[in-house]
Amino acid sequence: MVKSNALSDNRTLGPEKASTPIMPHAKPRVTIIDTDPGIDDAIGILLALASPAFTIAGITTVAGNIGIETTTRNAGRLLAFAGREDVPVFQGAAAPLSRPGPEPLNLHGEGGIGGVDLPDPIREPEGLNAVEWLAGFLLDQPAGTVDVLALGPLTNIARLVLGQPDAAKRIGRIIAMGGAIHEHGNVGPRSEFNLWADPEAAAAVVASRLPLVLIPLDVTRRVRATRALVETLSASGKPLASMVGSLIESYFESTANRESRPLHDPCVMLFALAPELFRVEELSLSVDIGSVEEAGALTIDGSGTPVQVALGVEGLAALDLLARHLAAS
Ligand code: BDR
Ligand code: CA
Repeated sequence: MVKSNALSDNRTLGPEKASTPIMPHAKPRVTIIDTDPGIDDAIGILLALASPAFTIAGITTVAGNIGIETTTRNAGRLLAFAGREDVPVFQGAAAPLSRPGPEPLNLHGEGGIGGVDLPDPIREPEGLNAVEWLAGFLLDQPAGTVDVLALGPLTNIARLVLGQPDAAKRIGRIIAMGGAIHEHGNVGPRSEFNLWADPEAAAAVVASRLPLVLIPLDVTRRVRATRALVETLSASGKPLASMVGSLIESYFESTANRESRPLHDPCVMLFALAPELFRVEELSLSVDIGSVEEAGALTIDGSGTPVQVALGVEGLAALDLLARHLAAS
């Protein structure tokens, strides 16, 4: 059992707060992870692999933090590390729908995933393109039973929505890390990276009216990894937990702020695991597809599309849940 007060230097969850249980009573959800790993993507993927709440049907990759060859390889490396060659990887979009791709972010190191020691992939990526596989898989499964956890630019999901709407309609729910509502952006004054990297894709997904929960910076900046979390994870002696500790270490290396780092993408998994830790509002949103400066910015207006947006989170309880899942794996 991870002590919750080991997660931050001098904050506790408080004695009155019961921990969110790890074992869900419900059946595991069939889940697809769409991702551009990415250090925080990697942490989210390992968390999902550690949790009995998800049956991971496949990982689809997208260019974002770094180029598509590297994000695809990183997905394979993580699965090899976790001993999960049963999970197939499908390579997706190499570039946004209609504009040049972003330069790779230095934030995630040259290999896109920090300097951590991961094995080479054991299983090659599948021959089928991510969007073709998504469409076929969704059409094969009962409608509403497959969730998509989206951790990168929304290019693959938009291609599915625009090209294969009958398949897209069968998605149970998309939970996507992206956007900034009341917070300043991380690539522009109002723009967050995932939506900024492919704003046309984000606009198509938002306008599709598919069941979508957006997890913006307003929430992810409040779920922060600390040195104490690294120590807790490493002390557990569990391989997935120790690897997440190493990933957080390398996340610290990439910034001047060495005190704490936001765990953006893992918040998607944490929302799926424990929505009660989040405060959600329905907002009518439109996505800016204009200039670079404002691209991907979200505006709340009457002419937008209603979207469920997480605006608050119990940050320490979310971290505690992450640590307990990893330590129990
Ligand atoms: C998002 O951008 C990427 O750098 C992270 O992996 C995350 O998905 C945060 O803005
Ligand atoms: Ca990401």
